[in-house]
Amino acid sequence: MDFITLCGAPAGRIGQGTWELGVRPERAAQERDALRAGIEAGMTLLDTAEMYGEGAAEELLGQAIRGFDRERLYLVSKVYPHNAGRQNIFQCCEDSLRRMGTDYLDLYLLHWRGTIPLAETVECMEELKARGRIRAWGVSNLDRSWMEDLFRTDGGDRCLTDQVLYHLGSRGVEYDLLPWLQQHQLPLMAYCPLAQGGSLRQELLGSPAVQQIARTRQASPCQVLLAFLLAQSGVVPIPRSSSARHTLDNAAALDLRLTAEELGILDKAFPAPDHPTPLDVV
Ligand SMILES: NC(=O)c1ccc[n+]([C@@H]2O[C@H](COP(=O)([O-])OP(=O)(O)OC[C@H]3O[C@@H](n4cnc5c(N)ncnc54)[C@H](OP(=O)(O)O)[C@@H]3O)[C@@H](O)[C@H]2O)c1
Repeated sequence: MDFITLCGAPAGRIGQGTWELGVRPERAAQERDALRAGIEAGMTLLDTAEMYGEGAAEELLGQAIRGFDRERLYLVSKVYPHNAGRQNIFQCCEDSLRRMGTDYLDLYLLHWRGTIPLAETVECMEELKARGRIRAWGVSNLDRSWMEDLFRTDGGDRCLTDQVLYHLGSRGVEYDLLPWLQQHQLPLMAYCPLAQGGSLRQELLGSPAVQQIARTRQASPCQVLLAFLLAQSGVVPIPRSSSARHTLDNAAALDLRLTAEELGILDKAFPAPDHPTPLDVV
C-alpha cells in the first residue's frame, strides 16, 4: 500500500467509507467482512461520522476493527456542525470513541460549516488534541474561501485536511480548492469517489472513455475512477463498499497507474470546469 502522511501517521493512499453501513442488521456481518477485507488489503484509513445512521456506522466500524492492531489503523470521524462547539463537542467525541471501541481518533472532522464560529470549533479541537482524545483535526465541505477564513482564524492553520466530494464527473475542486490545498501541502480526502456507484452521474461508469480504458487495462470501471483520483497529487479517495469483492477491487486500483494518454481521454470526456463552481455536495 502506497502511504501518504497525515499528521505524521502513515495513512493508506485509499481509505474506506462507511456511509449507509450498519443500518440494516441483516447486512451487518457482510459489511463487517467487507471492511475487514479492506483493512487486510491495506486500506487502513476508515472514515465515519456520528451522523451516519446516528452512530450505527461507528458501531459497525468498531466491530470490524476488533482484533486489529489499533496503531496500524487510521480512524476518522466527524462531528455535526451543531455539535462542534464547547457545549457538545467533548461529549460527542466521547460518544464516538465509545461506539468505535477506541480511546482516540486519528482525525476528527467538522462535517460541514454551520453557525458555530470556526474559532470556537478550532479551540475545542485543539483541546481534544491536548486531552489525547484526537491526534489531529480537519474539516469537510469547506470551499476555498471558507478555507481561507479558517486559516485566518487563530490556530486554524492546524487543520489537516478538507474532505469534499470529488470524482471524475464532478471536478469543480480542481479549479481552486485542490490547488490551494496542494499549495498548503494538505491532502484532499475525496468522498463519493465512485459517484455513489455511478448514481450521482448516470453516464459515468458506462461512458466509452471509462469503458475503453477498463477494457484495455483489464480493470473495472470503478478502478478507473479511483485511478483517476490517485493520479492527482495529495488526493485520498475513500470509496465505500458493503461487499468484500468490491472492496478488494477498490484496493487493487492502486496498481492501476493511468498513462498521460489515458488521463487525456478521461479529461476530454469529463473536462474540469474552467471557472469557479460552487462546491458539490450530497
Ligand atoms: N464528508 C461528507 O459530507 C461525506 C459525504 C458523503 C460521503 N462521505 C464519505 O465518503 C464515503 C464514500 O462516498 P459514498 O459512500 O457516498 O459513495 P461511493 O464510495 O462513491 O460509492 C459507494 C457505492 O459504490 C458501490 N461500489 C463500491 N465499490 C464498487 C466496485 N468496486 N464495483 C462496483 N460498485 C462499487 C457501492 O456498492 P456496494 O456496497 O454494493 O459495493 C456503493 O453503492 C462515504 O461512505 C463516507 O464515508 C462523506
